[in-house]
Amino acid sequence: MPDLLARGVLMCPVSGLPLRPAPGGGAVETADGAWRYPVNERGVPILVRDWQSFQDYVKSNPSMTEEYGAYGAAAPPARFWHHHRWFGDDDRRTAASRRASDQVLALCDDPARLVLGVGGGPTRVHPAIINLNIDGFANVDVVGDACRLPFLDGSVDAVHCEAVLEHIADPRAAAAEMRRVMKPGALGFICTPFLQPFHGYPHHYQNFTHLGHRHLLEAQGFDIVDCGVAVGPGWTIAQMVDLYINTYSRPLARRLLAPLWHLFANLVIKPRDERLAEHDKAYLLASTTYVLVRR
Ligand SMILES: C[S@@+](CC[C@H](N)C(=O)[O-])C[C@H]1O[C@@H](n2cnc3c(N)ncnc32)[C@H](O)[C@@H]1O
Repeated sequence: MPDLLARGVLMCPVSGLPLRPAPGGGAVETADGAWRYPVNERGVPILVRDWQSFQDYVKSNPSMTEEYGAYGAAAPPARFWHHHRWFGDDDRRTAASRRASDQVLALCDDPARLVLGVGGGPTRVHPAIINLNIDGFANVDVVGDACRLPFLDGSVDAVHCEAVLEHIADPRAAAAEMRRVMKPGALGFICTPFLQPFHGYPHHYQNFTHLGHRHLLEAQGFDIVDCGVAVGPGWTIAQMVDLYINTYSRPLARRLLAPLWHLFANLVIKPRDERLAEHDKAYLLASTTYVLVRR
């Protein structure tokens, strides 16, 4: 993990000035000492403009930390079950979206490069990625807001942003910030749900089609390298029907229908989805879409 302070890439989210370790430790500050931010017990700097709204967000965000934390902490058999009872994360991604994401993640192998995971954690998609999140849970390296990234202009070699833009009230601001912190020529992989149910952690404002992604990022001046379906129609149907049964059915019907639907989804929908995700009309019912951009 590169030392972000030693690299001199961190920025005060209010003044835009560079940050350095504060004398005596436990904080970071601007050279004139006018702006000072705490560093938590894990050495993570808390670089948010508005401390109170950050606290409110974190307090209202337990469902995500519980959900992701339970998975991360699960012992191997439970972890296997979590992963395979439905479509596992890896098998439901399209080959094209994996290739696009891998182009960005491959840059993490070079210790001289800084790859920023915007809204990343508690999972670490690459051991060397730097995760920035509005909440300070496990595997978050910098607490900050995607709409005011605490990184200096042109300080980042690539950006990876997965399943985050739907939770941000102003995705244009987040896209503009990604562009500001990226070096000229840097790559960005952004992937966001299209047909997925509401999942507020605690907020969920919008979803993105492949064209929505393209428009959002082109409007900020990015070049589009690739754009398409990240998770196909089968997962959309499997997840929607599962939620419908588990949310709206009476208990007896639920106990009967849920396992039947799981069996059907795993035996019939899941094996087909790999081919369906490559269908030329997969975007019509895509669960998630992605875009690969160059600054
Ligand atoms: C669905 S989770 C995805 C987490 C991770 N990227 C992954 O794919 O496993 C959405 C994440 O976005 C984070 N988030 C929401 N609003 C944010 C903001 N304004 N700035 C940074 N992170 C934010 C949430 O705390 C949450 O961890």
